[in-house]
Amino acid sequence: MIFYYSATGNSFWMAKKISDVQNDTLISVTDELKNGKPLNYSIKNNETLGFVFPVHAWNPPNTLLHFIKKMNITGYMGQYTYAVATCGNSSGNTMNVLKRTLSKKDITLNSQWEIKMPNNYLPLGDIDSRDKQEAKLKIAKKKIAHINTAIKSCIAEQRLCKGSFSFFKTSVMGSLFHKFAMGTSPFYVTSNCISCGLCEKICLSGVISMKNGKPVWTGKTCDQCGACINRCPKKAIQYGKKTSSRGRYCHPIYKEKN
Ligand SMILES: Cc1cc2nc3c(=O)[nH]c(=O)nc-3n(C[C@H](O)[C@H](O)[C@H](O)COP(=O)(O)O)c2cc1C
Repeated sequence: MIFYYSATGNSFWMAKKISDVQNDTLISVTDELKNGKPLNYSIKNNETLGFVFPVHAWNPPNTLLHFIKKMNITGYMGQYTYAVATCGNSSGNTMNVLKRTLSKKDITLNSQWEIKMPNNYLPLGDIDSRDKQEAKLKIAKKKIAHINTAIKSCIAEQRLCKGSFSFFKTSVMGSLFHKFAMGTSPFYVTSNCISCGLCEKICLSGVISMKNGKPVWTGKTCDQCGACINRCPKKAIQYGKKTSSRGRYCHPIYKEKN
């Protein structure tokens, strides 16, 4: 059973690569939350348990942590459990935060991998150059093959991209980000909008509604996951003053889905 969270496809691509090889079920945590059904799952003796997600401000995404706190897994008796986090550059202590959250559900994380993928966070800087994106994706392909081998043999392993000052980044900067940078008020839509409604459909926080053919951010905060701004086919969604001159990123696997 693989739980995944993905705004622009990097983590979905990873999760799918794993599920294809391990012949495992993929579950989108954001779809599950939107469905509103009880978050009850059952794991078999010979099954493995995986979590695949992006790093958000040196932490797991808020919604993923919320999902883990709410979910109920029956049949878990220490089956091999792993996490794969994708990040643009560095993850800080993301995995420690996940580990702590899982341990409160008596789930032990056996393996942890972090893989650099193209950056999708636009408010602070531009996306990676095409060369950099291609280089990251090429390395990621090799790493996912290694991860699949490790999962098949239930090997316990830890390969992280913590970067420098990991404690400070996760605990101080991450906390500040999650307290002050989650507001939706800087989002707006330009006249390029063609009213396709994709942003409403793909919003991982479920806070976009189409009103008179245009997206409206109905919630005060969201995960800032980057789905709406990056995947808008007309680059009609902006955040503050700086994103109009910046590029947009979406993994090819989600471009096919649009
Ligand atoms: C709100 C937000 C915060 C992010 N914070 C970090 C970070 O702290 N470190 C990092 O290396 N990348 C960071 N990123 C980049 C993403 O982790 C990276 O692009 C990831 O692969 C996106 O995965 P997805 O396409 O599955 O959503 C951030 C992205 C977003 C949207």
